[in-house]
Amino acid sequence: MKERIRQAAEMIQEQSALRPRVGLILGSGLGILAEEIEGAVAIPYEEIPHFPVSTVEGHVGRLVLGELEGQRVVAMQGRFHLYEGYPLESVTFPIRVMKRLGVETALITNAAGGINESFQPGDLMLIRDHINFMFRNPLVGPNDPELGERFPDMSEAYDAELRRLARRVAGELGIDLKEGVYAAMLGPSYETPAEIRMLRAVGGDAVGMSTVPEVIVARHAGIRVLGLSCISNMAAGILPQPLSHEEVMETAERVKETFLRLVKGILHSLPRESD
Ligand code: HPA
Repeated sequence: MKERIRQAAEMIQEQSALRPRVGLILGSGLGILAEEIEGAVAIPYEEIPHFPVSTVEGHVGRLVLGELEGQRVVAMQGRFHLYEGYPLESVTFPIRVMKRLGVETALITNAAGGINESFQPGDLMLIRDHINFMFRNPLVGPNDPELGERFPDMSEAYDAELRRLARRVAGELGIDLKEGVYAAMLGPSYETPAEIRMLRAVGGDAVGMSTVPEVIVARHAGIRVLGLSCISNMAAGILPQPLSHEEVMETAERVKETFLRLVKGILHSLPRESD
């Protein structure tokens, strides 16, 4: 594993001398942010050793390095999902590579269904915590202490300081930022209404099919995490209409401007270089 991480990072460093501090994982419809990265070097996933290749419609597959709002960033334009059939190790491999490149903070975004009935499609939600209903953990197997500890603490998986910063930035920008618990399901079928009632009963505010594996590996690697969901639809059974990927993409498209403004505002306010 370490050798594969090293090979991938080495190839990336051959393409770009930039040492990124912030990793961006851009979910459905939000990859557009990567277009705004200055001095960008974009590397298609298929050119990076051991990287899996993205298959979902609306996801481009490339890693983009450069500067955004004065921060050195590496962005994943397109991410990998368990439901695509990738092993967890592949889904989370890019996080390991980001760590190796120097990333200290990860900003992870996704599209999610709203379980909390006070939410509306188009709302943005700061992830306070998650529930892993994928029932799989990317850290299963022998632990390499050089990558992280055997039993990483998850009591503050989503960094409290970064959450405060996100709330402050949203307030300054006049963006209404909801907050809640993200419940991760394996997918790819959407949930049933009964499943959504169950998720609500156990404290879920939004549901999606990504993010949790990456967050677990980021925490294992000692990367601080900020998570943001775009509530792209109300979860199953709340509204009379069926769910569709088209609705998810349409809503993401509709709120893109606000989402990008928030993410850029957060990047702008993140502490600068201390070295
Ligand atoms: N359920 C699961 N994943 C999702 C949803 C949903 O309703 N919307 C966007 N991603």
